[in-house]
Amino acid sequence: MNATKDLQQDHLLVKRLGKIAKKCSDALYSNVVIPIEDIKIISMLIQEFVDKFHHGKEEKAYFPHMNDKDDYSEDIRKFLIEHELGRRIASMLTQNLKAWDSGFDSREPVARFLNAYSVFISAHTGKEDVFFDLVEEKGKLSEEEHSLLMKHYKVCSSDVGGKVRVEQMIKLIGYLEEREWMRK
Ligand SMILES: [Fe+2]
Ligand SMILES: [Fe+2]
Repeated sequence: MNATKDLQQDHLLVKRLGKIAKKCSDALYSNVVIPIEDIKIISMLIQEFVDKFHHGKEEKAYFPHMNDKDDYSEDIRKFLIEHELGRRIASMLTQNLKAWDSGFDSREPVARFLNAYSVFISAHTGKEDVFFDLVEEKGKLSEEEHSLLMKHYKVCSSDVGGKVRVEQMIKLIGYLEEREWMRK
């Protein structure tokens, strides 16, 4: 495992969550009954796992480090703007979910922002994967840099509650995949 592969490993989980968000959105549009608790888990994972944890590692460790190297700053700038877009969609989702929870019929906006988030995830992780492959191909990071970044990731993991919490969130992705509405 190295610092680039670690992020790509996260992407596999992030993409699974994107698929769940898409499936959930489609099901809501088809009037399938989905427990609001499940959607709250999706929304929590978007905020905690994707945004705080994964984007945290990119924003606090990997990107600032790569920014000092030759022509990567333009790509990085775009990725950071995309993170902001993701944050905006996530916060609209949370707001509408709260409204739904307090009795408003917010199924349509919830479905819409779940879909928007899944589109964001597949486009964003796709572009980053191309970037990460290039960095690895060109051997831009030394062993020392990798291990330094991996140490920094550990701090990011404690920012979201530590290793156990991260493992728990990964289990929740698996839990959602097994829900009845997911398997229809
Ligand atoms: Fe990212
Ligand atoms: Fe990423």
